[in-house]
Amino acid sequence: MTSSRQRLHLILDPEVALPGAQRFRFAQLMLILIGIGCTLVDSIPGIDHQLQMAVEMAIALVGLAFAFEYALRLWCAPDLPRLTWLNPAAARWHWALSPAGIVDLLAILPVTGALTWGMILPPDFAAVMVLLFMLKLSAHTPGARLIGRVIYNERRTLLVVMIMFGIVLIAAATLAHIAERADQPEIFGSIPKALWWAIVTLTTTGYGDVVPQTAFGRIIAGFVMISGIGVLALLAGILATGFSEEVKRRDFVRIWELVARVPLFSGIGAQAIADVVARLKARYFPPGAMVVRRGAPGDSMFFIAAGEVEVRLQPESVILSEGMFFGEMALLDRRPRSADIVTLTSCTMLVLAMPDFFQLAGQHPALAKAIEAEAARRRGEG
Ligand code: CMP
Repeated sequence: MTSSRQRLHLILDPEVALPGAQRFRFAQLMLILIGIGCTLVDSIPGIDHQLQMAVEMAIALVGLAFAFEYALRLWCAPDLPRLTWLNPAAARWHWALSPAGIVDLLAILPVTGALTWGMILPPDFAAVMVLLFMLKLSAHTPGARLIGRVIYNERRTLLVVMIMFGIVLIAAATLAHIAERADQPEIFGSIPKALWWAIVTLTTTGYGDVVPQTAFGRIIAGFVMISGIGVLALLAGILATGFSEEVKRRDFVRIWELVARVPLFSGIGAQAIADVVARLKARYFPPGAMVVRRGAPGDSMFFIAAGEVEVRLQPESVILSEGMFFGEMALLDRRPRSADIVTLTSCTMLVLAMPDFFQLAGQHPALAKAIEAEAARRRGEG
């Protein structure tokens, strides 16, 4: 049984794909954008007094909504998977001191402080609020954790590239200093001074405010520019591969967890499970969705990881629930679908495409036999 606090915790989780959680994220994003828009308008000097009152009121309302969200997050903190080992008070304390808790608190402090105690707002109130709202936005976007993980996973390779970047930077500044100090002493007179030119050139920004005059200086500049392109390409490559690996790893773990709910897969061994997991795709269906239509060609079968479906047979329907499967008969018999199947609740299904079905059946005969046995039983019933 899930408590109301656990349900709310799921809605607040930026990684959850439930419809309620998605609606919450949309509302939160809208509020942040309204907050940012209003603070931008508020920062324009000499705006109409009434407009200013209206946008400040809107900022206050956004602040209050975030204060309410903060209270909810604090209440739900004991359900965070990483904090379940703590008692509720300690879990809330832990969350309040975590980066996410501090960001959420900072985003509400100026507005709630001003509303509660009539606190004097800082002169750069609008700028501060925009920065805090942006911080909150980045902390709660579903991709933020992903980016954090990718950087953490690739930290060693990134460090090597950054060290290379540093070496090229200092070498470039030193060589440019040697080549150019006589011609342009105010810009290349010391290595620290030449660093500005080196960084602008190495990052291929090229403001053009500092340009080498000597032939040697220009040759160095050419090498630095080419090295800059190389370093940036290396960084982009490392991050892109890191992202794709992390996304694959996450999908694998998520599907592994869902596969564990299907009894058919429980006794087939680790290697077979890994093969199955690599071929399944998770799909969400809302209640009342037609998953399979009678007479349509069958190109996949479905395992129910969560929820219930109705198999509309004549004269009676059959209900299939979590752990069961359907859609196998069209694949085995190479015939059109034998019944309509409609979801009764929101469902998470694991979908196995026809080519993968036959490949798996060939590799794991026990699995194929179990599916065939169930299909034979259903044919007998139908
Ligand atoms: P398929 O024919 O591909 O599409 C409709 C599905 O309904 C079918 O595969 C079976 O998976 C399922 N089905 C058919 N008859 C029964 C039954 N008697 N009990 C449970 N499921 C069934």
